[in-house]
Amino acid sequence: MWSTSSRGAAAVLFLVLSAARAEWVDPSILDSCPGYNAVNVKTSAATLTATLVLAGTACNVFGNDTKTLDLAVTYETTTRIHLKITDPTTTRYEVPESVLPRPAADASVRVSDAQIQFNYTTSPFAFNVIRSHTKEVLFSTASHPIIFESQFLRVKTNLPPGANIYGLGEHTETFRLDDANTTRTFWSRDAYGVPEGTNLYSNHPVYFEHRPTGTHGVFLLSSNGMDIKIRNNETTTGATTLEYNVVGGVLDFYFLAGSESDPSEVARQYAQVVGTPAEVPYWSFGLHQCRFGYQNYIDVANVITNYSAANIPLETMWTDIDYMYERRIFTNDPQYFPTSRMREIVSYLHDHNQRYIMMTDPAVAYLPGQGYGPYDRGTALDVWIKAPNGSASLGLVWPGVTVFPDWFSPKIGQYWTNEFQNFYSPKTGFDIDGAWIDMNEPSSFCDYPCDDPFSQAVQQDLPPARTSSPPDPDAPIFGNISFVSRKRAVPNHVGDDLMNPPYQIDNAAGVLSDRTAYANAIHANGLVEYDTHNIFGTMMSVATHDAMLARRPGLRTFVITRSTFAGAGRKVGKWLGDNFSDWDHYRNSIAGMLGMATIYQIPMVGSDICGYAEDTTDLLCARWAMLGAFYPFMRNHNSDTSISQEFYRWPLVAEAAKNVLNIRYRLMDYIYTAFHTASIDGTPVLNPLWFKYPTDSITYPIDLQFFFGDSILVSPVTDENSTSVSFYLPRDRFYDFSTFTPVDGQGAEVTLSNVDFTSIPLHIKGGAVLPLRANGTMTTTELRETDYEFVVAPGSNGQAVGALYIDDGVSITPATSTSVSMAFSGKKLSVSGTFGFHTDVKVASVLFLGVPAAPKTASVLGGGHSNSKPAFSYDASTQVLSVSVGMPLTGGFEVQYQ
Ligand SMILES: *[C@@H]1O[C@H](CO)[C@@H](O)[C@H](O)[C@H]1NC(C)=O
Ligand SMILES: *[C@@H]1O[C@H](CO)[C@@H](O)[C@H](O)[C@H]1NC(C)=O
Ligand SMILES: *[C@@H]1O[C@H](CO)[C@@H](O)[C@H](O)[C@H]1NC(C)=O
Ligand SMILES: *[C@@H]1O[C@H](CO)[C@@H](O)[C@H](O)[C@H]1NC(C)=O
Ligand SMILES: *[C@@H]1O[C@H](CO)[C@@H](O)[C@H](O)[C@H]1NC(C)=O
Ligand SMILES: *[C@@H]1O[C@H](CO)[C@@H](O)[C@H](O)[C@H]1NC(C)=O
Ligand SMILES: *[C@@H]1O[C@H](CO)[C@@H](O)[C@H](O)[C@H]1NC(C)=O
Ligand SMILES: *[C@@H]1O[C@H](CO)[C@@H](O)[C@H](O)[C@H]1NC(C)=O
Ligand SMILES: *[C@@H]1O[C@H](CO)[C@@H](O)[C@H](O)[C@H]1NC(C)=O
Repeated sequence: MWSTSSRGAAAVLFLVLSAARAEWVDPSILDSCPGYNAVNVKTSAATLTATLVLAGTACNVFGNDTKTLDLAVTYETTTRIHLKITDPTTTRYEVPESVLPRPAADASVRVSDAQIQFNYTTSPFAFNVIRSHTKEVLFSTASHPIIFESQFLRVKTNLPPGANIYGLGEHTETFRLDDANTTRTFWSRDAYGVPEGTNLYSNHPVYFEHRPTGTHGVFLLSSNGMDIKIRNNETTTGATTLEYNVVGGVLDFYFLAGSESDPSEVARQYAQVVGTPAEVPYWSFGLHQCRFGYQNYIDVANVITNYSAANIPLETMWTDIDYMYERRIFTNDPQYFPTSRMREIVSYLHDHNQRYIMMTDPAVAYLPGQGYGPYDRGTALDVWIKAPNGSASLGLVWPGVTVFPDWFSPKIGQYWTNEFQNFYSPKTGFDIDGAWIDMNEPSSFCDYPCDDPFSQAVQQDLPPARTSSPPDPDAPIFGNISFVSRKRAVPNHVGDDLMNPPYQIDNAAGVLSDRTAYANAIHANGLVEYDTHNIFGTMMSVATHDAMLARRPGLRTFVITRSTFAGAGRKVGKWLGDNFSDWDHYRNSIAGMLGMATIYQIPMVGSDICGYAEDTTDLLCARWAMLGAFYPFMRNHNSDTSISQEFYRWPLVAEAAKNVLNIRYRLMDYIYTAFHTASIDGTPVLNPLWFKYPTDSITYPIDLQFFFGDSILVSPVTDENSTSVSFYLPRDRFYDFSTFTPVDGQGAEVTLSNVDFTSIPLHIKGGAVLPLRANGTMTTTELRETDYEFVVAPGSNGQAVGALYIDDGVSITPATSTSVSMAFSGKKLSVSGTFGFHTDVKVASVLFLGVPAAPKTASVLGGGHSNSKPAFSYDASTQVLSVSVGMPLTGGFEVQYQ
């Protein structure tokens, strides 16, 4: 129901600022702006509209206050309110539907059924979002007037003292943001070293706020530059405040009710807005190896053979920009990476059920009249971003002076797909299995002002010369290894200063146009970079996804990008960029990954294992190999100036990697099933502890432990060179993954010492049935042919449930699939489901954990395969009962013991 009231307009002292041009403004000045009065309020069914009229003398802080605004509020579902404030007199920028399709509203929603309510006052206009059941205020602009100027929009809410806020990434802060002093800036940036306190590659202006009474979410759908400030020192009440300061666009908020008991619900509700993640190929969960600095094709081949020789399962080999001729995209160096030899390598990989991925950057070398096809064809199709005078907007990237593809150009799909078809041709070129896209903030090496990129290119010595001589073109490789919408008007920016907006966001790169495409650069549809900068990486992601799909129609694509915006997970995965080989980056990779996987709906995520820049050490690399086995995207990658860090380089690291890859591969169907569920409804693939223990406040700040899937608690050793770790075990039943022995968490820290450099503490959360695969396979293809071992790990209530999804692992729409449910209670495991996918694989055995005494009998019931006397064994020291089952996955069955 709509609830309203009007409170008398308080006498406010208006402070009129003339030409304030400061990064920081005393909040009390903004709070004394007049705000708006709501008039002409109309409600019908689940919508409310009103006109907002400036309520006093304009404060004109960073430009002139807009006199009249339109407000539209819609209850789109019972858990989602959509609020928009726009300027009716002019077209302002909004994120195009082509980039982020808007969710449909459910026309049958009744306001009285909604889990959150929009409540407002008219004079001045202020609004609250309230949890219907508890009447808690979740968001409130009361006492903080809305400010709407051409290049400055401000909305501010009061939150409870010590509010638990998560999200607002991409960032290198703690997972729970500091409520005293956080400024999150949104402007995609090539953020080498991913420094804390700065804007990074991606932009996700969404947060989840958790309270013991529930978790809700707030998403500001804006790709404009902005600062979001969280403070706790501006009011006398001790409240936390969260303030949006946006330099353009409109105010377009989605409020998500979340849930009073299950934090993962708000993640699913956010997925309803931005889309659920793409399903990825099964093989992409295998180990990936990359580096910047493989000198030539022989290096690439040797890494592959060295992994085999070391018996470490390498699924996918990658090549960075080293392969390019003069660092130009869609070329290869004919001496260092000759096509024929590279095709041999790719064939070899494919023959061994392994894969290959290469990097593609967005920037295209500016080489008019020099016979560089990718430049000439793009110029002919007119697909470059333009400077205001209509010439191509120039940047400076790896190959020297460049142009940038305009992802809004009507011909860009044709261009990009064609270049992929040519260069990555299975018949004549590089038959890649996935794509890696980088530098798509977009990054430029050109220091501002970039008046003469040609001279900056000379000063920076771009492109660099090769440092080694070319290899023998006929060198033997793999020789003796024995193998084991709607059209919108163009936004009106008349009078706006796009290069130097009055409010300057806290961009760590400097002014908006520094080291990227200019803010006044123009796209084919008339949109300017000022508005669309933050979606460049996501648009490149979509174009690359489409190009890869055109190469292999019907098959899932695998694209890893650096820059993302809300919704990118529908098409691509993401790596966390250029970190350092140090313990800080090892630790903070967990919070970075949790943001992407649990909040932003980009679960295919990981950091560069062992670190990208600087030199790793054996101990760090061993620990990181083991943590990285629980990144959904597991890739070892480093920079051209760092020491080699493939896992086989040190015996200790090789052993750590082998141990943990064994575990990861055994868990692969478990995580694949979690991804399948995520692709349907957005259920997070990783979970921070508080998602599982929402009323246990000790869990709220924890970001050095996490759940891989729903049930595997990962508690890595986090101190440099240490062999001990103290971690939190909530009050619950757990099982040590290495022995399957029960461990009862006491809601307290546990300290393990003597955690050697080849093991990582893992616990199964009681209540799960895990479908494990077998040990010791070298590829995921082989793994998929091994039998299952179901592990039944009952919770403290004696029950457990699990799920297993199987399909061909590669098709977007598999012809057949199998969905299995496992449920345990009262000494009986029941397995049921639909069994459409043909596999000869069996459930070889079932392990029952926490069985207090040796059973007398066991039995297996199911179709023609029942067995009243299956072999079983019991280990009293670990309380593990193992029953030989041998059931095919063609129908349901039961396994029981007495
Ligand atoms: C603000 O309004 C004044 C008076 O109407 C006008 O002269 C000025 O150009 C406006 N400034 C901007 C930035 O639009
Ligand atoms: C709505 O706001 C009015 C005025 O602030 C307040 O009196 C009323 O209790 C609010 N309604 C709810 C459901 O909180
Ligand atoms: C707030 O954070 C900024 C950026 O990290 C830092 O420079 C500043 O010292 C902090 N201020 C306080 C009062 O902690
Ligand atoms: C509040 O904290 C911020 C960041 O620490 C600081 O910049 C600001 O001056 C503080 N404001 C007040 C009123 O103390
Ligand atoms: C591969 O292993 C051999 C033998 O240990 C070593 O000499 C060579 O440097 C390694 N090459 C690469 C690229 O790993
Ligand atoms: C167009 O503008 C760019 C910079 O904005 C400049 O470098 C270029 O020379 C201009 N081209 C023409 C034809 O004026
Ligand atoms: C083949 O094996 C021999 C002996 O182990 C070794 O010396 C040689 O380097 C290997 N060649 C290649 C291409 O791996
Ligand atoms: C950790 O071990 C490395 C050698 O692997 C050593 O260089 C470093 O100083 C050690 N760090 C600490 C804090 O002991
Ligand atoms: C897996 O391998 C480990 C050691 O490599 C061994 O202890 C364990 O029994 C094996 N498990 C299975 C199910 O084969």
